[in-house]
Amino acid sequence: MADTKVALITGSTSGIGRATALRLAAEGYDIAAVARRTARLEALREEISARPQQCLPVTCDLSEAGAAGRMTEEVLAHFGRLDVVVASAGHGRGYGPLGEAEQGHWPSALAVNLSSVMDLAGAALQPLRESSGTLVLIGSVFGIDPAPDYAAYAAAKHGLRGFVRSIRREQNMEGVRVCLLNPGTTNTEFASVLRGDTEPMVHDPAVWGFEPLLPEDVAAAVAWVAGQPAHVDVEEITIRATRDR
Ligand SMILES: NC(=O)c1ccc[n+]([C@@H]2O[C@H](COP(=O)([O-])OP(=O)(O)OC[C@H]3O[C@@H](n4cnc5c(N)ncnc54)[C@H](OP(=O)(O)O)[C@@H]3O)[C@@H](O)[C@H]2O)c1
Repeated sequence: MADTKVALITGSTSGIGRATALRLAAEGYDIAAVARRTARLEALREEISARPQQCLPVTCDLSEAGAAGRMTEEVLAHFGRLDVVVASAGHGRGYGPLGEAEQGHWPSALAVNLSSVMDLAGAALQPLRESSGTLVLIGSVFGIDPAPDYAAYAAAKHGLRGFVRSIRREQNMEGVRVCLLNPGTTNTEFASVLRGDTEPMVHDPAVWGFEPLLPEDVAAAVAWVAGQPAHVDVEEITIRATRDR
């Protein structure tokens, strides 16, 4: 096994995934950066390659059946190991009350936010056993609380919580740590994507009326979880902006 630890991060082109890729690269991990927007992946590769760490950009649409598993095999074939896997890709499209929401987006919302994460976890399991590694799945406070107007998204994130809590019990005895990390409002492109903007952008934080989390706040928590010694398993973390209701 090569010496340098490897982190695979989905959703690396934006927000929490991108901040996590940069944070873990700064901590010495080689990075497999996964998302659809190739130009942004290439920009991230260039940014990380200023350090000694390697960055492998992997263009992948996680809404496609089987894509998460194939992508994981590709990363493993390149690096030969996996130490940290962070599932951050997600979207909230299909927003709105039942009956008014654009339900055409729901299959993709369920695929990206839930099914692909399950596939990724399954494909990463054996290499994570070999490295006594860590799986960090980005949930949401909408996976804990009711979320009017976000029913499909909430269904996926509640499902993810059930998945994580179940596999954690299975996999702990194999030495794999499994953490569900639930952010509250975080200033990323999430809301812009949800609206269907063709050029997604980060909000002016003034729209919320309180200071939201930054993606770097969540990335710091991921790094803390991944940095725990092998006998410490952080089961679940929920992070909310202080003044967020
Ligand atoms: N922002 C918040 O307030 C908030 C709160 C709680 C939880 N979360 C969760 O945090 C995670 C990250 O979201 P974010 O806030 O960082 O949003 P973001 O800035 O919009 O980033 C979402 C990422 O997911 C990727 N993605 C979306 N659809 C994909 C697909 N079909 N295939 C592959 N990658 C795909 C995007 O990359 P490409 O478009 O390049 O594919 C992008 O890198 C999500 O799981 C979200 O549910 C966010």
